[in-house]
Amino acid sequence: MLIDYADKELTQRYQLMAQTIIPRPIAWIVTQNKQGIINIAPFSYFMGLSSEPATMIVSIGHKSDGSEKDTLKNIKESGRCTICMVDEAHLNQMHFSSKELGEEESEATAFDIKTKEVVKGFPPMVQGVPSAFFCEFYQEIELKDSKTIPLVVEIKEQFIDDGILSDKEKITLDYEPVARVGKSYALLGKKIIPPTIK
Ligand SMILES: Cc1cc2nc3c(=O)[nH]c(=O)nc-3n(C[C@H](O)[C@H](O)[C@H](O)COP(=O)(O)O)c2cc1C
Repeated sequence: MLIDYADKELTQRYQLMAQTIIPRPIAWIVTQNKQGIINIAPFSYFMGLSSEPATMIVSIGHKSDGSEKDTLKNIKESGRCTICMVDEAHLNQMHFSSKELGEEESEATAFDIKTKEVVKGFPPMVQGVPSAFFCEFYQEIELKDSKTIPLVVEIKEQFIDDGILSDKEKITLDYEPVARVGKSYALLGKKIIPPTIK
């Protein structure tokens, strides 16, 4: 079967890409608007981009009425976001937080998601997540003729829960993130160590 993307609707393309490009990491993004309302939402068009500068990219679409998603608006206005990594314990709350709410409503309140201030000047992180990145808005990428906005954010600080540090001196991490696979979720499972390349 060969699929011509020119014949496919946006949702069909999404279905195909989401089932094939797997697993996708999930950025559980915390932002704040001018009134200080905490917004939390998950995004899986998300990836590490470079270590110098330490950057990640996240693509954000629009709400059903065509307005900007709160996360996009807040990052552009405040220049800051906190990106949490999701473990199994937070899966349901993360999933619920994808519900489209008005900008005056906080997912933290609506879904009883506890947050914790860790780095001054940045949005709080979700309490209990294994790791979180405190980021500044770096650059917007233009996708010609698209309503999807890819944003590059720069990591300024990273929180790592002591419980996932298998070697504190070398800062070796060991944790099981939840990944997006199609419309479901998965844990990564079996690790494979490759042979040394000579
Ligand atoms: C696991 C998961 C991944 C998602 N990934 C994205 C994404 O990459 N881009 C996007 O625009 N929306 C994505 N969504 C939908 C947003 O989470 C949803 O539109 C949310 O309401 C946005 O909230 P906000 O308006 O508070 O920013 C995803 C939803 C789920 C459950």
